[in-house]
Parts: sequence; structure tokens; C-alpha cells
Amino acid sequence: MISYGKQSIDQSNIDAVVDVLNGDWLTQGPAVETFENDLKSYFDAKNVCAVANGTAALHLTGLALGWQTGDIVITSPITFLATVNCIVYAGATPDFVDIDPVTYTIDPNKVEEKIKAYKSKGKKVKAVIGIDYAGHPCDWQALREIADKYKLQLVNDNCHALGASYNADKQYAVKYADVVIQSYHPVKLITTGEGGAILTNDSKIDEKVRCLRTHSMTQDPNQLEKNDGPWYYEMHEVGYNYRITDFQCALGSSQLKKLDHYVQKRLEIAKKYDESFSSVDSLKIPEAHNLVDHVYHLYPLQIDFNKLSLTKTAFFEKMKQMGINLQVHYIPVHLQPFYKRNHGFKPGDYPIAEKFYDQVVSIPLYPSLTDVEIEKVVTDITKFVESK
Ligand SMILES: Cc1ncc(COP(=O)(O)O)c(C=O)c1O
Repeated sequence: MISYGKQSIDQSNIDAVVDVLNGDWLTQGPAVETFENDLKSYFDAKNVCAVANGTAALHLTGLALGWQTGDIVITSPITFLATVNCIVYAGATPDFVDIDPVTYTIDPNKVEEKIKAYKSKGKKVKAVIGIDYAGHPCDWQALREIADKYKLQLVNDNCHALGASYNADKQYAVKYADVVIQSYHPVKLITTGEGGAILTNDSKIDEKVRCLRTHSMTQDPNQLEKNDGPWYYEMHEVGYNYRITDFQCALGSSQLKKLDHYVQKRLEIAKKYDESFSSVDSLKIPEAHNLVDHVYHLYPLQIDFNKLSLTKTAFFEKMKQMGINLQVHYIPVHLQPFYKRNHGFKPGDYPIAEKFYDQVVSIPLYPSLTDVEIEKVVTDITKFVESK
């Protein structure tokens, strides 16, 4: 079965993990700091805090940015649940704006319209979370201008876009957003098994997330109410255990060395798909804005199922029979029962996202996909669609 995504692990990754397993530290050792430093240099971030997963990174971001009850945080409905859930974790109120129909990322014009609509009711938006969906960076210039104009916080959920460029700059993420979060889940661009990180040029935010990562325990003499001795620590607010292990970080550092190579492989596969599918009626290939170098974490192919008188379910089943396991990214988050019930969202609220969901399918794309497998995906999809 060909899956839609898969990790790439080679002997050098295995050796890196085994080295740590043979050493003195399994967790909270030097490999964590090394991975953080490696991420700092690759992404040109002043601070990086590695954590247990991308969801933990989002959770701590909301807390460090001080989100609380009554704060409004805007994001896109085309994302994984965790991007929105982190707003709820902080007790703040999630709201959405629709996606751009070409890039599938949050539409900055609609962000501004929504901020103005809140303003006219005397309400202020606290933050915006953009998602570099599928590996295509958002319109960060426009989002930064809006953030500066309305004095709000800007977060980049960068989980899909490690190695992508914006304005020919691979290190764009921390330049535009106040906080950037990443995930290193196995289907992502690089993996640590489970893992994530918070990248920021703001040292105060970094200090805060570092403290929250380990139960908010502090031994900082400037913060202690008293000091009973060298064992003594205090907790001034509730924190979490969101630490990542040393062996995961060793895997992360060795994977990061190969990120550019993985991206190159993804681009080669995406190019083959583009060439094969662009001329097939009823299929729409993903496009990249001219300021952007896409990294194709996903290849969201849109299929006009209505025109083909075909259901997405039937298409999925047929492809499964042929040995191809597809996925859909994503079910628009505002349509999740939790968000409908608790926040009043309903079908029709974000029509571009909803139409995108009706048509989108993530087809297999990962660095170790072979030419034979790529050819099979192309032939099976094309033949089936053209037979309709
Ligand atoms: C866009 C996006 N945000 C957040 C997450 C959460 O990351 P993790 O699975 O590491 O918790 C994911 C991962 O699936 C994601 O794709």
C-alpha cells in the first residue's frame, strides 16, 4: 500500500539515536540544546525551545502570549485541529477567516475586514495564526503589516513548511511572525517521532515557554521568594511536562542535516505530478505564489467530483483497491461539532474553505517514493478520472 506520507530514516539517523542511547542522558541532556542550536542556525532564530510535539508548542505559545478569556484569536479553517484548540486551551475565543482560493492560506484582506468588523463593535483582536498550509508560506508581508497596523500578535504555524522560502528567504518565518511553531511528527518534513519547537526572536517569550515546558519550576534567584538551599525551586504559575527527549533530539539534528535534500526530492515528485495532472480535465494542481518556494509537505489535488458524477468516498475506495492510501487535509475546523456547538459556526460560514474540502485529496508524496510508485499514482488516478 502506498501511503500519502512517510518518514525517511537512514543509517546515519539510527546511529545518531544509538549514540545517545549509549550515553549518559536520555532526557534533558546536551542533545536537546544541540538540536535547539541547529534549529536556530537553520531558521536564523534568536531563540528555540524544543518541546514534546507541535500541539504543546501551540499551547505554550498561547500562554506565553498571554491569551485569556475574552481575547479573540483569528485563524484559518483549513488546518489541523491543534491550531485552533490552542486558542481554546488558553480560554480565548477562536474565530476564522476564509482561505485564498489560489494559495489555500489565510486571506489577509479578509483578516483585515474581520478586525475592522470587531473594531466597529468596540472589540480588539488579540492575535492571528497563519498556517503555511501544505508547504506554501502565507502572505506574511501583508499579515505583518496588518499586525503592526492593529497592534496584534502574529503566530506562524509553520509545521508544513520547513525549508520553504518566502521572498527567496528560507529564514522568513521568524522575521515576520512574533512566534513560529513547528512539528516533527513522522509525516512532516523532518521527524523526531513526536516533537515540536517554538522559535522566536523575543527572548521574553522564549523564557516563558522554557519555564512552562518544565512545570514552571524556577531556580532563578531573581524570582525566588526565599531560598532554602541548592535543591530549592519555586513554581509561580501552573506549568507542564512538555519536554522532548535527548534521543529524539539526536534524530532531529541528524534529520535537519538532510532537510534540503528531502525538499529537493519532494520538488521532483511534485513537478512530475504537475506535469501529469495539469492537462487532465476535472483536476486542479496546487499553485505556488511567485514570492514563494513551496516544499510540498502535501500535494493537495483538487478533483471536481460533481462534474465527474463521482463521490470522494468512491474515489478513496477505488484508490485503496489499487493500493493507494489517500488522505484529506483538512476537514474545515469550524465544522467540527465542538466548534459548531460551543462557538456557533455553521456550514456556509467559510465557502472557499468548504468548497476546497469538498474537492481536495492529498496524494502520496514523500522523499522515498519511487519512480514506479509515482508512475502508478499518476496512471491510476488519471485512468480512473478519465474513465468517468
Ligand atoms: C498545521 C499543523 N499544526 C499543528 C500540528 C500539531 O503537531 P503535533 O502532531 O506534533 O502535535 C500539526 C500536526 O499534525 C499540523 O499539521
